[in-house]
Amino acid sequence: MALEKAKIFTVASVKGGTGKTTTLLNLAGIFSLQKKKVLIIDLDLYGGAIALSLNIPNEQDIYRLVDDLNSNRFEIIDRYLVKYNDYIDVIPSPKDPRNASKIGSKYISVVLSKVIYRYDVILIDTNHFLNDITLVALDASDQVLYVINNDPSNLKNMATRIAIHKDMEQDNYKIILNESTHPGKEPFSKYDVRNILKENIDYVIPKNFYLKNIDKYILEGNILTLQKGIASKYKKTMDSFKNIAESLMKDKK
Ligand SMILES: Nc1ncnc2c1ncn2[C@@H]1O[C@H](COP(=O)(O)OP(=O)(O)O)[C@@H](O)[C@H]1O
Ligand SMILES: [Mg+2]
Repeated sequence: MALEKAKIFTVASVKGGTGKTTTLLNLAGIFSLQKKKVLIIDLDLYGGAIALSLNIPNEQDIYRLVDDLNSNRFEIIDRYLVKYNDYIDVIPSPKDPRNASKIGSKYISVVLSKVIYRYDVILIDTNHFLNDITLVALDASDQVLYVINNDPSNLKNMATRIAIHKDMEQDNYKIILNESTHPGKEPFSKYDVRNILKENIDYVIPKNFYLKNIDKYILEGNILTLQKGIASKYKKTMDSFKNIAESLMKDKK
């Protein structure tokens, strides 16, 4: 059990499919290699991708937890924490997507208060809509990790999002340019990207990390950064993830 409060990191984006879930799982893998206790909370409520990607049961999902809290049936948090391995637990998104809209955003802080002293790191996955649930997660986070692709609409939307953060005087976000999902489709140079965003890119997931057989890993419930074959073949990318993990733990809110 962690003695200190967990750090909360939310993975966000302004477009779907930029690689949020994959990035979050890869970071969870890195933290677990460092023997940190990690909780993944899947707030992509309609997607359910974390439990599916990790091949873990999702009978106990965040809807059950929130519903039990709401109706005073809640007793202990342990029964809602689904174990992936010795270091990683998960609170899955609703197994039945019809329950997603029944989760009130005010319960997200209650859920966080139940787990905050049990973990070193809490990683929150989101979808790309700026809804109430995502806003609560962003607000509770020590750092927000935006995963972006190199394409015009994504970059323009991200520039708008950055402006919102600046407007609110929030600077606790990092930008990850993910070139691994669609390698070869990079219309802009890094210099252009910086100019469009008017902001630095903090990290790059390089295009050579594109894995043709990524679906095989997902089907088998494997985290890429925990696969010895991947770790030795893609040293540069592993270093990138290690770098991100380390600097996240260092940064103050
Ligand atoms: N390194 C990679 N190599 C190949 N495909 C990838 C890689 N990272 C992500 N993908 C694929 O890109 C798609 C979007 O990734 P995902 O992590 O689900 O994004 P998001 O959570 O932002 O929607 C998925 O089909 C995923 O398998
Ligand atoms: Mg996702």
